[in-house]
Parts: sequence; structure tokens; C-alpha cells
Amino acid sequence: MSKDDFRELTKDIDSYVEGLFATPGEVLERTLRRSEEAGLPEIQVSPNQGKLLRLLTEISGARRVLEIGTLGGYSAIHFARGLPRNGTLISLELDEQHAEVARENLEYAGLAGKVEILVGEAKKLLEAMVESGVVPFDLIFIDADKEGYPEYLEWSLKLSRPGSLILADNAIRGGSVLEPEDESARATREFNETLAGHPRLSAIVLPLIRERIDGLAIARVLEG
Ligand code: SAH
Ligand code: DHB
Ligand code: MG
Repeated sequence: MSKDDFRELTKDIDSYVEGLFATPGEVLERTLRRSEEAGLPEIQVSPNQGKLLRLLTEISGARRVLEIGTLGGYSAIHFARGLPRNGTLISLELDEQHAEVARENLEYAGLAGKVEILVGEAKKLLEAMVESGVVPFDLIFIDADKEGYPEYLEWSLKLSRPGSLILADNAIRGGSVLEPEDESARATREFNETLAGHPRLSAIVLPLIRERIDGLAIARVLEG
């Protein structure tokens, strides 16, 4: 099978799964439309990945979720939908305009009461949360600038407890992690290696079909 045929087949498989398990509905369709109209980059998680994030939230019984990188709120809607009634999501976003679009999308989705978006440089916001002694998060999703991933992992460990899940998007990046040629691929590779060798984490990277092959890192924080 040629490379093109293989790409075609993986796309068809992803669409097949999406048609069965991740049909969008009006809220998610509108969220993507509004984000596009506002000129946001189309780099949100895929529909199937969104469903997986929701399921991981539900399976883990998470009540406190932290997201690093909000964009237009597409992944945030999936997390918020997976939370119980008294659950909360805090999402960090550098760009005030992205945060505005996300707030509006979450409002329309009827989820604004569960979600707080904090605007600022993620590292600063994470540091402030650690210093203020916030209650640990049950699930943390890393999805902002790739260069920041190694440091976001360190903050995530400080903001979690044994049993917490730490997830990270874009762990494969079309295979660019195999032979990194830019800073973001290098940082992603370093991030994956740290996850793999970390004494306080049990982890895997799950390859996913997107525009190009990408991956979701899934790590569980261990005792001690
Ligand atoms: N999680 C979103 C996609 C996030 S895209 C979804 O799947 O729907 C990455 C986001 O991270 C962008 O909105 C970008 O503005 C934000 N970002 C980039 N660098 C950042 C930083 N240093 N601190 C906080 N947010 C940042
Ligand atoms: C891209 C995809 C992402 O999910 C992301 O968070 C950043 C960039 C991309 O395809 O370029
Ligand atoms: Mg991403």
C-alpha cells in the first residue's frame, strides 16, 4: 500500500469512528464556527480525541480539572461535559481574544458556571496557583506552546496528587519527534522521555489520527 493510500485509509477510519461516537451536535458545531469566524487557528483537538478526553474525565471521576491552553474552548467543553455537577475546570490562556471567544462558547454551551478561564502566561499562573496552595487537580491537560511542555510537567506534578492524571496533546506531531528539527519537536521529545523515565509517573503515548498522525500522552501520578 502506498503512503497516500495509507493516509486515505487512516482518515476514513477516523471518520468512521467519528460518525459513530463523536457526532458534533449544534453546540460543538457552533463553537468551531465561532472560533473560525474570530480568526483563531484551527488547532483544537479532533472530535474523537475530544470524546476520549471526556471519557477519561468520567472514568477517572475527576472533579477538578486544569487545562493549559484554552483556544476557543473546544476541548474545555468536552472536559466540562465529563465533570459531575459540582466539578470545575480551570483553563489557562495567554491570548485575551482567544479567552473571550472561549467564554462566549462556554456560555452558549451552558457550561460557564463550571469553567473559569484565567488569562496570562501559563507559567506565571501555575506558579501563582502553587504559591497560593490550591487544592490539587485530579486531571491536568497540557496543550499550550510545545516549548513549555517540560516546565508545564514540573508544575503539573506540584499541582497534582497520587492518582491524578496528567495528559498532554501533540506528543507525536506527525512523527517529527522521531528526528526533531525544530525547538518545539525537541521539547516534545524531551517531554516524552521525561514521562517515560519519571519515577513518579506511569505513562504511555497513544498515537491518534488527526490531520497528521499525532498523539496523546497519558500519565498517572504514583504514590511517594
Ligand atoms: N486545548 C485547545 C487548543 C489549545 S491551542 C483545544 O483543543 O480546544 C494552544 C493555546 O495555547 C492557544 O490558544 C495559545 O494562545 C495558548 N498559549 C500559547 N502559549 C501560551 C502560554 N505561554 N501561556 C498560556 N497559553 C498559551
Ligand atoms: C498544532 C496542533 C495542536 O493541537 C496544537 O496544540 C498546536 C499546534 C498544529 O497542528 O500546528
Ligand atoms: Mg494541541
